[in-house]
Order: sequence, then C-alpha cells, then structure tokens
Amino acid sequence: MTALARFHRDEVLNCTRCPLSEGRTQVVPGSGDPDAEILFVGEAPGYHEDKQGVPFVGQAGSLLDELLAGIGLTRADVFVANVLKCRPPSNRDPRPEEIEACESHLFRQIGIISPALVCTLGNFATKLLSGRPEGITRVHGHELSLTLGGREVLLYPLFHPAAALYTPAMKDTLRADFARIPGLVSALREGAPAPPLPERSEPTATAKPASEAAVQAEPEHDQLGLF
Ligand code: URA
Repeated sequence: MTALARFHRDEVLNCTRCPLSEGRTQVVPGSGDPDAEILFVGEAPGYHEDKQGVPFVGQAGSLLDELLAGIGLTRADVFVANVLKCRPPSNRDPRPEEIEACESHLFRQIGIISPALVCTLGNFATKLLSGRPEGITRVHGHELSLTLGGREVLLYPLFHPAAALYTPAMKDTLRADFARIPGLVSALREGAPAPPLPERSEPTATAKPASEAAVQAEPEHDQLGLF
C-alpha cells in the first residue's frame, strides 16, 4: 500500500465528519485489490458490514459474489466500497448531508485506486457519481465516460444486488448487465469503443435495496484487506 493510500485509510478510519460516526461499530472503508481495474460502489454498510468492517457480507454480498463468479472474477480481483463508510441507523437511506460529508472519501479512493471501470450499484452511487438525476431503472447498463477523483473512468450503473434479490426479472437484468463487464474492460484496455448494448426487456425496479430485516443467514467472508 502506498503512503497516500495508508494516509487515506487512516483518515477514513478516524472520520468524525458526520453523526453516523457516533453510532458505528467501525468504519467500512472498502475491501479488495487496491490496484483493481474495476471498482464497485454500493450504498452504505448494513448491520453485518458494520460488525465485520467489510462491505457486502450479507445476502446482497452473496449475490454480488455469484455475479462476479459468473464473469470469472472474485472479490480479490476488484475493489468494493460504498457511498457512505458508516452505517445509517436501522439501515435507513443515506441523507444528503451524510453523502456530502462522506463523498470526498470516495472520490479520494477513486483517485488512489484509479480503476478503469466504476460500477455503481443502485441509485445512491449512480446519482452521486454520474452527477445526474436519472434513476437506475433508466440508466442501468448504459456506460458513461467521466472524470472522477481526477481520473478518467467509465461509469457503469447497475441495479443494486439487494434490490434484485427478490425480483427475478431484475436479477436477470443484473446478470445481463454484468455479462458486459469483461467486454467493457477489454475495450478500455485496448482503447477501443465499448461493445454495443444488447437488446433487452426492462424489469420493474424498487427504489431501495431490500431491508436488513429481510437479509438473514449471513455468510462469513474473509476480509481482503482494508483499503
Ligand atoms: N452492503 C453494503 O456494503 N453496501 C450496500 O449498499 C448494501 C449492503
């Protein structure tokens, strides 16, 4: 880990910029390969993430692992982070002032990791990083070139795995959108235009990932090293 990455990690781990710091068990900065080509950005830690210090360790995390395996990847190949680094009470939606207080941590992470592809999971990450108001139902699967954290990246919005858990049509769409990731990464490596969008039908989206109450029987995941 570089000195800059170490400094950033310490800054995140000690953050008290918003009142969420008072209720947390620990900060959840993110985990995975700090030099990853692909960064996934979710919403916020939930109950289990707050306890374990690792993002996506519940059922949504299992689906994320399954989707990654479907394109030949594991958590160790990518970096996974969230918009908020601390758990909102009762897993409520992040508030605008919390996002504002926390967003520079995410932009700094993007600057340090320097991923080629940033996959946003759900509405909060998508709206924050695209800077646009369009919701995930409209923009999922449509990549967008932008500069984030001082880096040129391809933003690739995806449905949130927790939202897809209980909606089979959304899960199919998420799988289909995931299936384009290897082609997008290859095109980025080669400096070629992104491969064309496939034809598809649209599922009905729910605005918010499934609640923690619906997420039970949590599996354990090894911590891949905090960023
Ligand atoms: N777990 C996370 O770390 N982030 C989410 O957005 C949902 C579950």
